Amino acid sequence: MSADVVIALSKGRLQEPSIKLFTAGGVQGLKLQRFVAGTWADCVLGNLNLGILLIRDDDVPTYVARGAADLGVVGKDVLDETTEEVVEILDLGFGQCRLSLAVPLDQQDGLSNGNIRRVATKYPRTAEQFFRTLSWQVQIIKLHGAVEIAPALGLSDAVVDLVSTGRTLKESGLVEVQVVKECSARLIGNRASFRLKSSGLKIVVDMLRGQLEAN
Ligand code: PRP
Ligand code: ZN
Repeated sequence: MSADVVIALSKGRLQEPSIKLFTAGGVQGLKLQRFVAGTWADCVLGNLNLGILLIRDDDVPTYVARGAADLGVVGKDVLDETTEEVVEILDLGFGQCRLSLAVPLDQQDGLSNGNIRRVATKYPRTAEQFFRTLSWQVQIIKLHGAVEIAPALGLSDAVVDLVSTGRTLKESGLVEVQVVKECSARLIGNRASFRLKSSGLKIVVDMLRGQLEAN
């Protein structure tokens, strides 16, 4: 497990487009099939040895901030929730989705702080900031998954959740009433790595910039 540059990729929705982007940019050794969460792939980009790691999206900023990885690919939704210190380098353009406020279908009219007192979400920081700008007094209920079932069970009046195709909301009888934030995949980096491994990082960042310009 020795590499010039270590890159942490997010498993889940960003996994496949991330692998495609790195492969199109000339990274060799990334095989889609056998690459599962927690695994490490020894790769090369020209003369550079890359270690590419696939982990849970919420953990990517932690690995990068603490130097276990030099670079990472993570959604803006996750990035804005983290308290870890990382540098946002590039908007990679894929994985577009949004964080939205959604309520049960029969509650979509007369939307006000009066009807929305409790909001379930995996994104408490972003949600708190959003309601602060509205000057709404709201109780944020932090969940780790299956946020969409909270209103039907009486846990919350609304949710702030990630919307991609919209299927999850629809199947749960929820309707999007306001976009909180547009999101996409971002390249992030470790601050110290920019000094200590500047030439290696530059090769990877330039490769990704080139891919973005070509597309
Ligand atoms: C998000 C979100 C919804 C779903 C929305 O979860 O919480 O459940 O995706 O996608 P859709 O609009 O296409 O139905 P995610 O997959 O990010 O779960 P995670 O907590 O495992 O990251
Ligand atoms: Zn996630």
